[in-house]
Amino acid sequence: MDTTKTYSQRLIAWHKRHGRHDLPWQLTADPYQVWLSEIMLQQTQVASVIPYYRRFLWSFPTLQELAAAPLEQVMALWSGLGYYARARNLHRCARIITSRHGGRFPEQPTALAELPGIGRSTANAIAVFCFGARAAILDGNVKRVLCRTHGIKEFPGAAATEKRLWRLAESLLPRSNVATYIQAQMDLGATVCTRREPACLAAAASCPVADLCIARNTGCIDELPAPRPRKVLPKRETRVLVLWDGDCVLLERRPPSGIWGGLLSLPEVDGTSDPTEYILKTLGCTVTGFAALPSLRHNFTHFQLTLLPLSGVARMLPGVADPAGYCWVKRGDIDTAALPTPVRKILGEFFRQAMPGDAPAPAPG
Ligand code: ADE
Repeated sequence: MDTTKTYSQRLIAWHKRHGRHDLPWQLTADPYQVWLSEIMLQQTQVASVIPYYRRFLWSFPTLQELAAAPLEQVMALWSGLGYYARARNLHRCARIITSRHGGRFPEQPTALAELPGIGRSTANAIAVFCFGARAAILDGNVKRVLCRTHGIKEFPGAAATEKRLWRLAESLLPRSNVATYIQAQMDLGATVCTRREPACLAAAASCPVADLCIARNTGCIDELPAPRPRKVLPKRETRVLVLWDGDCVLLERRPPSGIWGGLLSLPEVDGTSDPTEYILKTLGCTVTGFAALPSLRHNFTHFQLTLLPLSGVARMLPGVADPAGYCWVKRGDIDTAALPTPVRKILGEFFRQAMPGDAPAPAPG
């Protein structure tokens, strides 16, 4: 370790030997592909992103093809990756760039940051990787590294701390080799300065800034970054229906915004009373053989949801059309349908139990 080098020079030198050089989106400076990767990498790790990124580009090789596609197709390709607002914003953003920017990404970070789904850090990353900008990033990995190296003890999500971190990130930027430095920060956070068991604990030499890291030198790596001050999540419960007929299950399209917006989900019923009447009125089918399935808990940012699934054999009344917003989906199409992960789990478990003979391959996510 050369202690005469600055923070950024050390990271750049480290990246040459130990950084990642062949991630799919590193092989291009095409703004469409880089933007797609940066959106997918928000809140999701590289290994989970790679197959989605490849499938997505295979389906939509250009921004124009993405903009022309129906939202349902985009949601289906995103299904299992989570944080679905990203997919809705991605689609909106593609349409805005096509209609208002002549199909070309703006080059300035401030202009990029005005587009849906592109925050300051993502805008800066795109501008650095595609347009040679000199700009800092501040994603979760970078926050963790800076909190540890600079001994910042406050929760990094608090507005004042975030402001301080941005100032720090900008003050550390090198004059040249900015793209390598930015990638080095991402890689150091993902491969060395990890949330649990960072590599410097086993071998200090694995980190290029171990000697100046305040957290390491004061023995408080485990405590930084400080966790979000605890808030008990409010709890909600909802009864959901797994209504099946032959090898089809009835699903409901969620409204375009809000929880699981635009995805297909299980129909919900209020209360604990017998839902037969409700199903007949709302869905136009009769149901026999109700059975409770195991409940499933899912944490959203602002509340905890317990899903209480109830299965039943449905029969559509003759001559009655599918109710608006609902559709029957074949078991074989479940894997590629745009479903939230908890719904996919409930259906996977249900089909395994109800028809164990021909289980499909497990879905991603
Ligand atoms: N996380 C966010 N952006 C990334 C990138 N370009 N490479 C690796 N990890 C990332």
